[in-house]
Amino acid sequence: MQKQNRAVWAEKNIVYLIDQTKLPFKEEIFISDNYKKTCEAIVTMITRGAGSIGATAGFAMMQASYEAPKENYNNFLLEAKKEIEATRPTAQDLFSAVKRVYNKALNSFEEAEKEAQKIADETSEAGRKIGIIGNELIEDGFSILTHCNAGPLAIVDYGSALAPIIEAHKNGKKVFVYVDETRPRNQGAKLTAWELEKAGVPHTIIADNVVGLLMQQGKIDMVITGADRIAKNGDTANKIGTLEKAILAKEFNIPFYIAAPMSTFDDNILEGKDIPIEERSEDEVLYISGEDAEGIIRKIRIASPNSGAYNPAFDVTPVKYITGFITPDAVLSFD
Ligand code: MRU
Repeated sequence: MQKQNRAVWAEKNIVYLIDQTKLPFKEEIFISDNYKKTCEAIVTMITRGAGSIGATAGFAMMQASYEAPKENYNNFLLEAKKEIEATRPTAQDLFSAVKRVYNKALNSFEEAEKEAQKIADETSEAGRKIGIIGNELIEDGFSILTHCNAGPLAIVDYGSALAPIIEAHKNGKKVFVYVDETRPRNQGAKLTAWELEKAGVPHTIIADNVVGLLMQQGKIDMVITGADRIAKNGDTANKIGTLEKAILAKEFNIPFYIAAPMSTFDDNILEGKDIPIEERSEDEVLYISGEDAEGIIRKIRIASPNSGAYNPAFDVTPVKYITGFITPDAVLSFD
């Protein structure tokens, strides 16, 4: 696959990102020539999704090594590392990528660059293999539920949760996808639906609270989501709303799979309760953005003018609700 077809790539010290805040209305590339600008792109979710955040953070660390002055090289790198790590707290890929590139940057910027490119390539390859492994679990005629966005945009190119579905479709299986809109930022309605349309996979968007009804009616055969961090015992942090889908799946005897590269597993965190959960701005709940009839992207308030909002971005699904983990080499279980 051409690097330019990825959600995230870099040439020398220049980082290129598909601007996910403009999708599905406009396809634009965001260009960053310094690590602070790349940090800002992670914070504002120009790029998002665990694998893409990891690759972008690795590239930010590489940019810092280009920018570091000779006389203050190590201190500059350390400060940059802290700044990049502070962009988002939950996705494990961010921390593993920054650490890997930082360790190489201590030797030279050439080594940092090589490592950052390697991480992006590895993430891409992990998605490709997850697709092949996960496809084996999908039967012809399956209707599959997914939550948030764990497609090509979120994991550099192939995706995690969407990779098996797209692979099954390419293999001629009839698959249908129910896409949770995924409030508050609507990654499902905006990004997953856009990716599925591009891949030609039949799908429909549902409001997040439709899932119980569909499961009760026997309309969902399996659930696949991505992951932002997986604790040593298998408890899994993913986009807010994942937990209730997993509990419902258990109630209705529907297999619930997590698809993730090995870089998302964090053996330093023993149980899910210790995974840091990001809290984001209340504006994400109080306002919504979309395109108006004139083709202008606008943000409008959808809540009572004087009310505030609470906006945790992730929840943790206990491992007992997870049927298996689709990884690049095998389907793992924690029994
Ligand atoms: O806050 P985001 O959009 O970066 O959230 C990450 C996600 O898209 C999901 O939680 C996803 O399912 C896992 S990341 C591939």
